[in-house]
Amino acid sequence: MPAQPPMAREGDLLAAARAVRERAYAPYSRFKVGAALLDEQGRIHVGCNVENAAYPQGVCAEAGALSALVAAGGTRVVAALVVGPGPEPTTPCGGCRQKLREFAADAMPVVVADGGSVRARFTLGDLLPASFGPQHLEP
Ligand code: THU
Repeated sequence: MPAQPPMAREGDLLAAARAVRERAYAPYSRFKVGAALLDEQGRIHVGCNVENAAYPQGVCAEAGALSALVAAGGTRVVAALVVGPGPEPTTPCGGCRQKLREFAADAMPVVVADGGSVRARFTLGDLLPASFGPQHLEP
């Protein structure tokens, strides 16, 4: 079991990510992923990976969840939870770490689970240290 204590709403996020993972469209990799994001209003937004016959056009679960959050009027990601098939914990890919960074603090919890339970707890800063973000573009 991960050393860090469970984050707020972890059970809700896990249930939401597990449910949406069932809907993943992953006929090529057979690697289904579900993601759930908590926004600054306490709402949960979900996404699953959607692959494509033109392989590079596939979209990660986290990117789908982020689009849903922004489309719903969310402005910050307060927590993220990703469910993959295991046994290796499915950590967000590099591109998705950067996408999350746009809307999240270094301290934002990123929890990784398999079908059954939480496998690891990180912060976004753990996964993407010394990151480039919106503040770099401020005058
Ligand atoms: N994938 C995600 O959706 N999120 C991750 O965090 C890692 C990878 C997807 C992309 C692709 O559809 C499949 O998993 C295999 O890489």
